[in-house]
Amino acid sequence: MSALPSTTTLCGGGPAPVVRTRALRVVAEAEALPRVVGAGLRVPTTAGEVAYANLDHAASTPALQTVKDAVDRALETYSSVHRGAGYASRLTSAWYEQARDEVARFVGAREGDEVVFTRTTTDSWSVLANALPSRAVVFVFGSEHHSTLLPWGRSRTVRLPIPQGTDDALDLLDEALAEHPGKHRLVVLTAASNVTGEVWPVERFARLAHEHGARIAVDAAQLSAHRRIDLAAWDADWVAFSGHKTYAPFGTGVLAGRRDWLDAGAPYLPGGGATASVTETGTVWATGAARHEGGSPNVVGAIALAAACATIERHREAIEAHEEDLLERLRGGLEAVPGVDVLSLFGDDHDRVGVVAFTVTGFDPSLVSQVLSVEHGIGVRDGKFCAHLLVDELLEDPWGERPETAVRASVGLGSTAEGVERLVAAVAGLVAEGPSRTWTRTAAGWTVEGTDPRDVEVERPW
Ligand code: ALA
Repeated sequence: MSALPSTTTLCGGGPAPVVRTRALRVVAEAEALPRVVGAGLRVPTTAGEVAYANLDHAASTPALQTVKDAVDRALETYSSVHRGAGYASRLTSAWYEQARDEVARFVGAREGDEVVFTRTTTDSWSVLANALPSRAVVFVFGSEHHSTLLPWGRSRTVRLPIPQGTDDALDLLDEALAEHPGKHRLVVLTAASNVTGEVWPVERFARLAHEHGARIAVDAAQLSAHRRIDLAAWDADWVAFSGHKTYAPFGTGVLAGRRDWLDAGAPYLPGGGATASVTETGTVWATGAARHEGGSPNVVGAIALAAACATIERHREAIEAHEEDLLERLRGGLEAVPGVDVLSLFGDDHDRVGVVAFTVTGFDPSLVSQVLSVEHGIGVRDGKFCAHLLVDELLEDPWGERPETAVRASVGLGSTAEGVERLVAAVAGLVAEGPSRTWTRTAAGWTVEGTDPRDVEVERPW
């Protein structure tokens, strides 16, 4: 696990943080659901103002109240990280490293694992791609999100076909690893799909990869808010996830796992903070997280993420029960609407988190999502969700009758049973009677007749 960095590895040379801090006393009941900021949001619709139904957690989760509180508090003493001798800098530096330790616990890091703060999951994979040993080969399924599919470079990627099931996926990987022997090989796969919500049994893939002498990196971007990440139990080598899908609203991502490739690889952002020493004759780069965290770090983002991780851990059972209930209502409700098709790679009974992508016969998915927003105050996403290959495969239709994109509803702490029921009723109403308003397709997309109720003037937050 990460330790406080020594001052010799830091460009500022300031003293190591020695401020004593303690965890806030936990007063919330573990069984209660943590509160999200903005839970009372009301939004304009053609039917007047209604409570916002947030069914778009797969894109970004709202912030937790505990996150906002932690950020507000940290801003009171906000200062430089590992670059100052003043009290505020020492306190901020200590919190930055404690945030790293909190995240290490959250991902089930092992002794010796490193936690690198990045900007996003996409950024985390670029850090790892940048540190791969030369001639490393990466194995990735075509069903992956683009951030997991693309950063490795075409020439060293073995792209596996989209599997029909998890056993099929294991067979495909087994064959590919046998066909491409080599010293340095990396399997990269998702823990939960951002399109179907389906959970991949990552420990089985880790076992297989290791049997072949390969390593495995797990994309937990869509799992982190919903289920436990456990590097140790999975026996995975790396995991990546993002704050913005984990109830922390700032640009923070994480890459956690084995240090060796990270310490041997080139620094991701060469510059201040990533160096141990710089002389006329050369640069000695830091090892550990600092090597890949050049520049003054996003300490507020790290604190926000740590607060989210700690809160999720305290309320895990309640969160999982809440989401299970919402997912059941969502899937059950949508599947009962004639003409609704729910996208699935592994079948109806497969374990999944609260993400449901669907099509509605006869309706353009972008019209469906606009109607849900403008007429019903419901937030969803439509498109291919940065997983074009997977969506193309799931919507393949020799008769050309299915749309090329889908609508996605996804639940979390900002969702309510009422919001889910409203979505199901709205889709059923759309199928039965069409939209309540007149809609026209223009070059800019679907527009509602008259004034779009969302076009209201709102004061800037600054
Ligand atoms: N990758 C995010 C999504 O699935 C943004 O919507």
